[in-house]
Amino acid sequence: MLVRLVYASRSASPVTDEVVGSILAQSRKNNPEHGVTGVLCVCHGDVFLQVLEGGREEVNRIYSKVLRDDRHIDVTLLDYAEINQRRFSGWRMGRVDLDKVNAGIILKYSEKPRLDPFMISGRVALTLLEELGSSASIMGGS
Ligand SMILES: Cc1cc2nc3c(=O)[nH]c(=O)nc-3n(C[C@H](O)[C@H](O)[C@H](O)COP(=O)(O)O)c2cc1C
Repeated sequence: MLVRLVYASRSASPVTDEVVGSILAQSRKNNPEHGVTGVLCVCHGDVFLQVLEGGREEVNRIYSKVLRDDRHIDVTLLDYAEINQRRFSGWRMGRVDLDKVNAGIILKYSEKPRLDPFMISGRVALTLLEELGSSASIMGGS
């Protein structure tokens, strides 16, 4: 039974390469042994948007750890669904920096060039992340 979970959160402090690097290192170490894949998107330096895919128990367990992590606040579930297949199977935890993404892609899904994940639906967030995957905007973590 596969599920996909999408959430947004606000970084507790300005997002530095060090913060993202340590989150990604933990994710890339832990996720493969639990069969979890996904993408972490850093939105304009202060908001995280993450998709997690995998077995229901494993995704729920990782999400409950993520919820307790004090590196971010306002963790908000945007979408949770049972799925037949993964869309991000190629990433232990891919990374996207929205500041480096073509503005045209963001404007397709956002009212303003600065995307606020708290203002879009889970479905739209997922479609954006998928497009980022197919436009080669997702780095590393394969
Ligand atoms: C935005 C964000 C995303 C995270 N994503 C993951 C993840 O995908 N997998 C993971 O194991 N930990 C993730 N973490 C880290 C967890 O909250 C937790 O610190 C970590 O899993 C603990 O790892 P350990 O049990 O090896 O010490 C994330 C943390 C933050 C702030």
